[in-house]
Amino acid sequence: MAICGKLKFPGDKSISHRALMLAALADGTSEITNLSTGVDVETTKKCLENCGITFINVGTSVKIEGGSLQSPVDELDCGNSGTTARLLMGLLAGQKTAAKFIGDGSLSERPMKRVIDPLEKMGATINSIENHLPLSLSIENLTGIRYELPVASAQVKSAILLAGLGADTPTTVIEPIPTRNHTENMLSKLGAEINTHENTITVYPLINRLNPFKTTIPGDPSTAAFFAAAAAMISQSDLMLEGISTNPTRSGFYTALKQMGGNVEILNQLSEQGESRGDICIVSNPLNGINIAKDMVPGLIDELPILAILASQAEGVTEVTGAKELRFKECDRIHAICMNLGKMGANITELEDGFVIEGPTKLRGGYVRTFNDHRIAMAFTIAGLVADGDVTLDNQHCVDISFPQFYEWLKIVR
Ligand code: S3P
Repeated sequence: MAICGKLKFPGDKSISHRALMLAALADGTSEITNLSTGVDVETTKKCLENCGITFINVGTSVKIEGGSLQSPVDELDCGNSGTTARLLMGLLAGQKTAAKFIGDGSLSERPMKRVIDPLEKMGATINSIENHLPLSLSIENLTGIRYELPVASAQVKSAILLAGLGADTPTTVIEPIPTRNHTENMLSKLGAEINTHENTITVYPLINRLNPFKTTIPGDPSTAAFFAAAAAMISQSDLMLEGISTNPTRSGFYTALKQMGGNVEILNQLSEQGESRGDICIVSNPLNGINIAKDMVPGLIDELPILAILASQAEGVTEVTGAKELRFKECDRIHAICMNLGKMGANITELEDGFVIEGPTKLRGGYVRTFNDHRIAMAFTIAGLVADGDVTLDNQHCVDISFPQFYEWLKIVR
């Protein structure tokens, strides 16, 4: 079996969430093509609908009528989506729109203090039990702040910047390590006053509504990474991933794959509305272990589960450190990776902030606990392709969160 062919992926999940939210703030109708097909982005759409925003599906595009955000009658159900919850808290705070936020079991366990603290400093009132969902948000006046992020998080940065649009003075966020910059890119293209100097971003109160826009979302590099990894480690493979986001704050996985000896080439690069995309070609090649340290982590945070599978097939040691944030994702991903990969026979050691893997090992199939986490399910399905014996997941359906077509597309390239 080799992994061969061409795939053109649905839109990036992070950019899709932001495009929907910013279209809601625009003065007129925006049109978004190639939106993410995942449940998380549908969740953001439903929440915005509950705040009075109208969406019309036209073929593969969605049209959005910008308008003032109304306080929802019901709670905003953010489902499994941390991006929906955290960014919407900031967006609604900036529009002085009170709301109650709820989420599923996983989201209700994820830390919200990181968003609550800065929004409260800006003047929002937030009630929660021990800084988790469910929580309620209300706002009278919002003042800009200067805020040093205690953790490198694009979600927290974005929440503060979106709130800052409605503050009465400028808002500055300082990042410890640069994280994905889609919010800044889009805001600056749509007419907001925002500037970035090194790790410091300042947004100014929005005087006019944002400009309506037409955009095609670049393919999701995080989803594409599962297919890229399969092609990299299965001999005789040759795969082209078309139109994938090559934003440098998102391409850490592809850089790491090259460092591992992977044969990765990016062709046909172009840029639209501040976001770059290109065709990523991967040809299988023997891989070696590498070190991933703290500074590299935000650029490949969502790709670490699949990178662990690659490391188990690479010659030598791969060490990932400075990635404690992985414990606060849809599940504790450090635990999920180490437990499942260990059971499959990999030589893996769990660290508080990462893991060490010595490869290569012939993996054994078996029963995998996904913890209902889409990226754990996809990573271990790919592990199954290089294992002796079948891999059985306790929940296959959780892939719907980011990529419902995952199994179907895997069949196409096998
Ligand atoms: C995201 C940012 C990352 C990432 C998540 C999506 C975003 O989370 O893990 O899947 O869209 O801003 P953090 O910013 O909390 O690290």
